[in-house]
This record gives sequence, structure tokens and C-alpha cells, in this order.
Amino acid sequence: MNRVTALVLFFLLIPAPLPAAAAARTLEWTRVLPGIWSAAVGRPDSVHFLQTAGVSPRREALEAMGDVPCPLEPALIRGEVREGKTLLHFPLEKGERIFGLGLHFKTVEQRGRILRLHMDHYGGTDNGRTHAPVPFYVSSRGYGIWINSARYIDIWVGTAVRKDSRHPPEVRDRNTDRQWTARPYSDNVEAVIAAEGAEVYLFGGPGLLDVVRRYNLFQGGGCLPPRWGLGFWHRVPTLYTADQVRGEVEEFARHGFPLSVIGLEPGWQSRSYPCTYEWDRGRFPDPAGLAADLKRRGIYLNLWLNPYISPQSELFQPIEPYTASHTVWAGLVPDYSRKEVQELLGRHFRKHHLDQGVSGYKMDENDGYDSWLWPDSAEFPSGISAEQMRTLYGVMMQKLATSLFRERNLRTYGLVRATNSGAASFPFVVYNDYYSHPDFITALVNSSFLGVLWTPEVRSSRTAEEWLRRMQSVCFSPLAMLNAWSDGTKPWSFPEVETQVREIAQLRLRLLPYLYNCFADYAFYGTPPVRAMNLDPGFAAAAEEVAGAVDSSANPYGEAIRREIKDQFLLGDSLLVAPLFAGQSQRKVILPKGKWYDFYTGRPAGDGEILTVAPGLDRIPVYVRDGGIIPMLEEGLRIPDGKVPLEIRHYGSKDAVYELYDDDGSSYDYEKGKFSRIRLAVTGGESGEKKGSVAVPKGSRLWSYSDFRWVFPSN
Ligand code: GAL
Repeated sequence: MNRVTALVLFFLLIPAPLPAAAAARTLEWTRVLPGIWSAAVGRPDSVHFLQTAGVSPRREALEAMGDVPCPLEPALIRGEVREGKTLLHFPLEKGERIFGLGLHFKTVEQRGRILRLHMDHYGGTDNGRTHAPVPFYVSSRGYGIWINSARYIDIWVGTAVRKDSRHPPEVRDRNTDRQWTARPYSDNVEAVIAAEGAEVYLFGGPGLLDVVRRYNLFQGGGCLPPRWGLGFWHRVPTLYTADQVRGEVEEFARHGFPLSVIGLEPGWQSRSYPCTYEWDRGRFPDPAGLAADLKRRGIYLNLWLNPYISPQSELFQPIEPYTASHTVWAGLVPDYSRKEVQELLGRHFRKHHLDQGVSGYKMDENDGYDSWLWPDSAEFPSGISAEQMRTLYGVMMQKLATSLFRERNLRTYGLVRATNSGAASFPFVVYNDYYSHPDFITALVNSSFLGVLWTPEVRSSRTAEEWLRRMQSVCFSPLAMLNAWSDGTKPWSFPEVETQVREIAQLRLRLLPYLYNCFADYAFYGTPPVRAMNLDPGFAAAAEEVAGAVDSSANPYGEAIRREIKDQFLLGDSLLVAPLFAGQSQRKVILPKGKWYDFYTGRPAGDGEILTVAPGLDRIPVYVRDGGIIPMLEEGLRIPDGKVPLEIRHYGSKDAVYELYDDDGSSYDYEKGKFSRIRLAVTGGESGEKKGSVAVPKGSRLWSYSDFRWVFPSN
């Protein structure tokens, strides 16, 4: 090689100088729908939550909410792509509180935390690894930020301090200044997404509940379960036979316990971990016969499964080309984004399950556990990365399962251990194995910011007290379930509290009309059925007021409502639920401003104050807002098929109007307008001469109620 060639080669081989880091720029926002704006940084992935879920916004409901001014100064939101990653900065104000960013179990407020949003089985630390690592946060200032990216997302929520900060912390001398802190004030949120672009959404309020409603409506609104889904669920031990299931059902009747769903655990299948999705003919010789017998008693059948396919399954050969490079428990991992997988699984599930009378699924193990899940290096035939697959797998499974019932015009309700943005309209409730009762309630509070439903399921307990306390809270949750898969417990396992457990399960059933209404609000208006206290408009406003006060230390109520509230929640518009945990004989309850009444007696409980209550073991404290209307069924052990009398309770002295929602309770016809809203109204509350009226709009049909009886507790 001569010197000239060598020189030319030398210059050719020198790497081109790296382009100067693109400076973060402000994002360009486009109004998408009323109170919703979007912006893109770099080249967003083509695979994301909305496209995967295949959902579209509920435009009409969003139009009805109307426009709001952009809640954040657009110039303060910046983004850039650097070294193949997307970086985002968002502003924070003093006193601003941040909620959301995944289903946490110990914390509700996320300011001051660093999270990696990563689909996983919750491991006991609120670090972002969880069953619903939803990249959405709600600010106490009445706006929400959503990152529509199915990647692991690192996020520093008010911990990092930028040199160009608008409100930099004071420099303090640690030698002499006792106010020095290792964690100085930060006025920004920073996110890093390992992708060359991302789409970001901004949701307006004005209130926090409006933000959440807009977010939920944008992804198709919440789900409306079939009525039977809101009854009492019981999952039998894993190796139970059909005869044992029948025996269990008899026992429920003998003990006078309501029962709406029987869940079968892994042993219904010929093989599990990995799964065949085919019946074990020894334990279940006639699945269709069993399902039909149960249905005659008003009981629906739910099947456990996980995504991994056994070599013994009919599916194994045909589905193999559409599965990942790796196996889980030596089973195939189907690429749910592939049409072929959807068709093969669809055919298999119809034949073995839906055609046999099965009504839903519990979809387990789709969240992770790194030690047995596919690694991030795995390949899927669709080309979707392993990381994105992990983030979206639960959403994809919910979508497929929902569609199988939808094609028969049937609603389903079930369980899933992994969910994410985009899935609010899929009728699945999240659960896990973590089993801390107080932390389960914190998860319930957190779920309400995220378009996610959660159940604090009951499995076993050390004492009768714990058993009853757990039963009390699960009966006020989106899915009331005893999961006896490994313990074989029955609701009556602790005879000392059998009566109280029966009472709470029966109350669950009696509350069905109220619960169903809560879910109709979720589906039509995006309003979550369970709500954090911070989502209550009056409460949130009061908390913000206190935040602005110079010194709130002389105001214990103000102090309390400013603190993180993770052990009480609202159910619908009118109920406040304050569970007790084993070992507690009393607890504090924070009542929002306005009068509240005891649910059981109708007596006044307080108004904008902190109560200390000692309700005894028999009851879970439940309060009703002034003017609260609670429609209830009469006592019974099953969800009625046809029309039954309705008891309508009105609490307090405020005149009130309530729209009682009704439809056929099981099909999707309500989406075509086949539903009614019955106007229940109370006047004369102030004068003590209460009068209740029921107005069925002309031409409206009644599916569920034959006549109406008003009750004014304590009057
Ligand atoms: C676990 C699941 C339990 C139960 C069990 C059956 O993964 O969380 O609820 O279904 O599997 O093996």
C-alpha cells in the first residue's frame, strides 16, 4: 500500500465526528380532543398502547366534558432524542403532588421518587416494577401526563435539579447550616425512554377526577362487567374434580352464602405450566354438563390459564411458527400480535371453553418474574421487541379474550396479572400473590388513577379476625373473591365469624344496583368506580387550599388531608369505605367537607373532620355522603335473572337526583342504545318531609326492577 492510499484509508476509517447533542426543544402540541393534547419527540415506535389495544376514544363523552385551557405552560415541556433514547422534561411547582405511575402497594404520592416502569410481579418495593406500570401521572394541579410508549421508562419525579431550573434550591453550607439536605428541592420530572422517539399526551382537568376521566375516555372508557361479575366469586383448589365443585356449590347453598362465579385453577387442564387449554377428562368428564348445571343455579364458570403452551396441546404444532425464540417452563410463548396466533387460540378457546359454557378467564403469569420469563434478548416473529412484548402482553391477552365473548354478544369479567394503558375497557381485574391486606388497600387507591381495576382477593388467614377484615374489604372492591386455590378455605372456614362473613357477602349482593351504576359511570363517563380520596373534587380542592396556607400546623384536619391517604377510599359518588386490618380495634377516618352519615344506621357521622372509630369486629366503617342515593336489592343468594323489587335508600337531608342505569346486564346491546336511565329524586330533605319519586322516561324499558320502595335510614 503506498502512502497516499494509506492516508486516504486512514481518513476513511476515522469515525465521522458525532453530531452535537440535539438540544432539548419545547414540544409542539396539537389539540386532539377537548382537554387533550399530544406531541411527538423523534420517531415514536409504531407499536404502542393505543394501536395494540385497538381502542378508540369515546368522543361524545369527551365533547360533553368540553374544552379547558391548556393546563401547563407548553414552553416548559421539553424533549429530545440523544444516543438513541428519548428524554423528556416536565415542570413541577412548589407543593404540587404527583399520583399514578403504576400500581404501587405502599405509596400513593410519587413526588420525590425514582421509578423504572417495568412490567413485573410486584416484589415488595414501590420501584415501578409492577403488574400495571402505567406511564401516566396525575398532578394535584389538575392535569395529567401520559407517555404512549410500551418501553421500560425511567422517571425521576422531582428529584433531579437542572442547572437551568426555574426554582433552583438554595445552596447551603453543610458545615454550618442545619437546613442542609441531601435531597434539595427539585422542580422537574425527567423521563428516559429507550427508543428513538415517543408520543406524549397532556390531559386537562380542571379537577383531578376530570383528568382521570379524560384519560379513561381517551382509551375507550372503562369496562361494564356483566351483572353476574359483581356477585361473589369462589376459586376452588387446584386439583378439584367436577364432583367436588358440585359439592362445594351445595355447601354454599347450605351455609346460605351467595355465589355467582366458580373459578377453576390449573387442575382443570390436562397439563398446566405449560398449558394445554384442554380439559382433564378424568377430573372433568363433562365440562359442558357442569357449566350448564352451574348456570341453572345462576353460577358462571371462570378458567385459570397462563400464556405458555404445552407440547401436549393440540395447539403446539400449528402455533409453533408464531412463537418466540425462547420458551417458558418449556412451553411455547405465542406472539399475540400475530393474526395466526389470534385465530389458532380463538378456535381452540371457542371449541374447548366458550362452546362448553365457560364465561371468562383468569390470565396468570403474563407479568413476569425475570427468573422464568423470556429475556429482553428474545425474538418474536412479528419483530416486536421482547421489552415491548413484556409491556403489552397482558393487554394483548385481554383484547383477544374480550373479543371471543364480544363476537357472541356476551360480556365477560375476569382476572389478569398484567395490564397497562389502553386496557381500561377490557373487563379484567388485576390481582397478585403479595397478600398484604393494608398494602392491598393502597393498591386499590392507586388503581383509581390509572384506568385499572384491582381486587384485594382473600385466600387464607391466621385468625378469624383477619379473615373477616379481609372479607369486609374485598366485598367493597371491583371483584369480591375468595381464591382458595392452594388453601382450600371456604367463606365459613372460621366458624366464629361465619355469620359476619355471610352478612358482608350478602351485603355485596344487595349493593349490586349501586355497583352496577358505578361501572356504568366508568364505561360511559370514564369515572372510576373506586376512587382515591384525592380524586374527590371537594376534598382535592380543600387539600390544595391547605397547601397554600402559610402555617397549617394549628389545623390538624388540614394537616391530615395534606398527607398521603392510602387506607380509605370512595366507592362511586356516595360511599366512603374505611377498612380495618387485623389487630386494629379502632382507626381514624378522614371525612371530606359536607355531612356524612353512617351507612348502617343512617345517623350523622361528621362533616369535614377526622373521626376515630371503633366499630367492633362485625362491621367495616362505611359512610354515605349527604343526599346519597343507594339503590339496593332485597336479600338473596343469587343475582336475579329478571325483574325484582328495588329498595332505594336516601341518606341525610340534601335533596338529590340519581340516574339509575339499567340494561340487559349481559350483552353489548347497551352500546347500541339499549339501556335506560331512571330518574330517582328526593325532595323535602331540609324540612324533614322527604319524598322520593321514580321517573321512568317514556319509551324506556326496565330489565331489572319491578317496583321501587324508598327507605330513609334513621328517619
Ligand atoms: C399463581 C396465581 C394464583 C393461583 C396459582 C395457581 O400464579 O397468582 O392466584 O392461580 O398461580 O397455580
